[in-house]
Amino acid sequence: MTAAIIDGKAHAAALVDRVRVAVPAFAAARGRMPGLAVVLVGDDPASHVYVRNKLARTATAGMRSIEHRLPSSVAEADLLALVAALNADDAVDGILVQLPLPPHIDSAKVLVAVDPGKDVDGFHPVNAGRLATGLPGLVPCTPSGCLILVKAVAGDLGGADALVVGRSNIVGKPMAALLTAASATVTLAHSRTRDLADHVRRADVVVAAVGVPEVIRGDWLKPEAVVIDVGMNRVANPDGTTRLVGDVAFAEALPVARAITPVPGGVGPMTIACLLRNTLLAAHARAGLPAPVTL
Ligand code: GUN
Repeated sequence: MTAAIIDGKAHAAALVDRVRVAVPAFAAARGRMPGLAVVLVGDDPASHVYVRNKLARTATAGMRSIEHRLPSSVAEADLLALVAALNADDAVDGILVQLPLPPHIDSAKVLVAVDPGKDVDGFHPVNAGRLATGLPGLVPCTPSGCLILVKAVAGDLGGADALVVGRSNIVGKPMAALLTAASATVTLAHSRTRDLADHVRRADVVVAAVGVPEVIRGDWLKPEAVVIDVGMNRVANPDGTTRLVGDVAFAEALPVARAITPVPGGVGPMTIACLLRNTLLAAHARAGLPAPVTL
């Protein structure tokens, strides 16, 4: 048997479509479209690509996006002033400050300045605390997208052994919280984990978000494991060109796993789709409207 390749683009397109279909009811109730403000500081090429994709998708879903570009030399106080203005703008439902920020800016200070009700990245400590304690809130986009893909393949996760590799605030920790809430038995491995292969061998579900090219080998996997690869690592080919690879050795995993996400085309598209969903959810919550049942 060879693993099913999980089509993240198709799952993402279906979710964007559900968002798009739900937008007109909000617009009719509030007399305006849901609005997402994206703040991009500096010239990081990867960030520019991500932001361009996010803005294009927002339009596809029928929502309004507002882009704010600031030079890498911007003072922290000026960035905080922009965030305060976006917090106060009633037509802005979601605020996303693209990371990484330049080193002279304290990212944590900027993230806590965002109104938690508009924190569509789910990075504010209030939203992290809500997720950790099972309260409703805005959930980080990448782990939300991973959970949708895992459930699409594995169904009910009750009692499943799930391994998350990587303990970032953006992916690893919220992923572990979501899998725990879904009743999986969760292990959170990281750079100091002693025998990673041993943990991988026991896992029914592996979510790799560690940023090390192909660190998880195919022969470590439990037969029929579901593998979600969040890694996006650019590596050199022998001829000098480059290619993107994940944190899992994809070709080795194919004959072992039940299903696996490709890189690219797996988790990436889901992140943007979940951002749009969060924007629409934030818009409803801010307006005191119930969330659309289809989301
Ligand atoms: N940089 C890389 N991924 C992300 C993300 O999901 N949100 C933000 N704000 N910045 C990022």
